[in-house]
Amino acid sequence: MIRVDRDVAVAVVTVDREDALNALDASTLTELRDALGHLAQDDDVRVVVLTGAGDKAFIAGADIKYMSGLDVGQAKEWGALGHEAGGLLETMPKPTIAAINGFALGGGCELALACDIRFAATGAKLGQPEVNLGIIPGWGGTQRLARVCGLGVAKELIFTGRVIGADEALRIGLVNAVHDPVLEKARETAALLASKSPIALRMMKELANRALGGDHASNLKAEAETFGELFASEDAKEGMTAFVEKRPPAFKGR
Ligand code: COA
Repeated sequence: MIRVDRDVAVAVVTVDREDALNALDASTLTELRDALGHLAQDDDVRVVVLTGAGDKAFIAGADIKYMSGLDVGQAKEWGALGHEAGGLLETMPKPTIAAINGFALGGGCELALACDIRFAATGAKLGQPEVNLGIIPGWGGTQRLARVCGLGVAKELIFTGRVIGADEALRIGLVNAVHDPVLEKARETAALLASKSPIALRMMKELANRALGGDHASNLKAEAETFGELFASEDAKEGMTAFVEKRPPAFKGR
């Protein structure tokens, strides 16, 4: 099952299937996709944190027992469902943070990669071991790992299926920081982001998501355009006025 806990503007989404190390079967992944869809549209939610129940696993991947019975058509649908969940994390108009509290393997690593920011517990283990099952990463791993860590590092990890610890993940840029307890670090960062202008965050996320694709010149043009348009927002006026008046800004999201 999926738990959603709200703390003012921060929503913590917990994949809770501890007896299977939070591996995602069809009902859990569907529930996760639906929960993310609702949070994406809820303007009162400013930041979304994704984590796993217990202290052993973030998400140990797609449920292999479930996948072993799929035919080609069903496997395509299964892949599409995972991509929907990843797509929501990547494109929802607010920051998403993965709090990786243990195994983040296969689909678990892929959903973490779809988040904007990743933090890991010291005992976390990350990897794309699909090759050992005779399959390939199917929820974005062949693309997003390269975007986050570089193509050479990504190829080695997906070709070998090697599972790495938190220290190596930090060194290769797969996670932003290593901290125990990891949820505390994620909540702290989420609270910080929730205090910023949600309009500025939304615009930055949209623009930053274009950084590694499309046409560089038109992406820069879009940034210049958006920068100017933001000056119509109350938040921009508040932020700059607060600086001049030497007081903290109070952003309203308008
Ligand atoms: N799918 C289905 N069940 C899974 C699972 C997965 N991806 N990962 C773990 N589980 C289940 C195990 O089958 C086991 O259930 P059981 O007690 O009914 O047999 C339970 O979770 C505990 O896992 P177990 O393997 O006993 O724990 P461990 O500490 O010995 O090993 C892992 C942990 C993560 C190394 C091991 O479970 C593993 O390799 N999982 C698969 C990871 C993977 O390949 N993910 C990518 C899928 S695309």
